[in-house]
Amino acid sequence: MASAHGPADTPGNRPALTQRQRPAGHPAGPPATPDDPDREPPYLDLERLEARAREVLPADVFDYYAGGAETETTLTEAPGAWRAWRLRPRVLRGIAAAQLGTTLLGSEVATPIGVAPWAYQGMAHPDGERATAAGAAAAGALMTVSTSANHSLEEVVGVAPGSPSWFQLYRLHSPGHTDDLARRAGDAGYRALVLTVDLPLLGRRRRDLVSDFALPAGLRLGNHPPVDGAQPRLQAMETPTWTFDEIGRFADVSGLPVVVKGVLRGDDAARCVEAGASAVWVSTHGGRQADPAVSSAYALPEVVEAVGDEAEVYADGGIRNGSDVLTALALGARAVFLGRPTIWGLATGGADGVAAVISGLTEELAHTMVLCGLPDVAAVPRDTVVRAR
Ligand SMILES: Cc1cc2nc3c(=O)[nH]c(=O)nc-3n(C[C@H](O)[C@H](O)[C@H](O)COP(=O)(O)O)c2cc1C
Repeated sequence: MASAHGPADTPGNRPALTQRQRPAGHPAGPPATPDDPDREPPYLDLERLEARAREVLPADVFDYYAGGAETETTLTEAPGAWRAWRLRPRVLRGIAAAQLGTTLLGSEVATPIGVAPWAYQGMAHPDGERATAAGAAAAGALMTVSTSANHSLEEVVGVAPGSPSWFQLYRLHSPGHTDDLARRAGDAGYRALVLTVDLPLLGRRRRDLVSDFALPAGLRLGNHPPVDGAQPRLQAMETPTWTFDEIGRFADVSGLPVVVKGVLRGDDAARCVEAGASAVWVSTHGGRQADPAVSSAYALPEVVEAVGDEAEVYADGGIRNGSDVLTALALGARAVFLGRPTIWGLATGGADGVAAVISGLTEELAHTMVLCGLPDVAAVPRDTVVRAR
């Protein structure tokens, strides 16, 4: 198994976790008063949720989830890059409520906020990806399931078969195994294959190097075939040899539309579409790969311009409230995806925690849409935002 010195979004083995604390939730007791510091705020407070996750997770697991690569410049700058834009509200438009439902590659969703693929959800909650899938479905959101899931891709899609899911593909052991996985995703009912292309090598995550982070022993890798009874080695997940040719090939193998995740340049986006991509996903991998990389919020307009109407465009990285979502939609994204906010939701509240995060951000988006006189998330005009001065 690779350690954090080795590759993949993927640490090596380590002793079993001794503590798998589950969130206390709202402790029983007398009702909280407004001046009670432990009182739950009547809005989604992601900083507080992250602080709670830090309390319930082992320190090195929290750092694995929270951390970024190198100096963590990309990670740190991401939320601020969305806030470098300001809204230009429209008035007197007679809009009392906004349409929040949309379609993603033809699949209907109740919100343009989806769950990004993230690895090893079993470290955050015993039900891992199954709980996240249930939470996403409850919120009417699309879930993207990572190759590095602790449950198999069939188990996860089986949680909410009517709710759309996409499968994120890394290279697994060998081209043959990788193709098998792509085929299985098509057979299992996933609606798209997400090729993550920003991991030719694993980013150097200093926090993991310091903690010598490794996966808890016994943590199941749902999509990896057993290798002589041992946990498989994961270095193979790096994809230095992939080229644009993989896009059409994986579309053929899986029979699914391909979304290319991890694109930060217009020229690359155009080549992905030429090569057969149905969508391009602007992402810095949560600041875990090249660092300092341009923030998604800065790369998005260039990618949207390069792609035109030829493909859908999505974005992730540092999206932390409804106005960040609206900014991304105005800049041309059809949907956004959440990584860490769903991690903190899962760690502190299981499926309900994930649903609460997505619903909370969706409510903020709904509110901001009306304040800006906008009726429909699928038609947010570009001139809704302007760079802050
Ligand atoms: C702990 C962790 C594990 C991740 N694992 C994967 C993965 O397996 N596949 C992938 O394509 N992206 C992975 N990502 C990147 C996310 O899909 C997403 O791009 C990023 O988390 C979005 O940024 P945010 O966390 O600021 O919302 C991971 C991110 C984190 C934080």
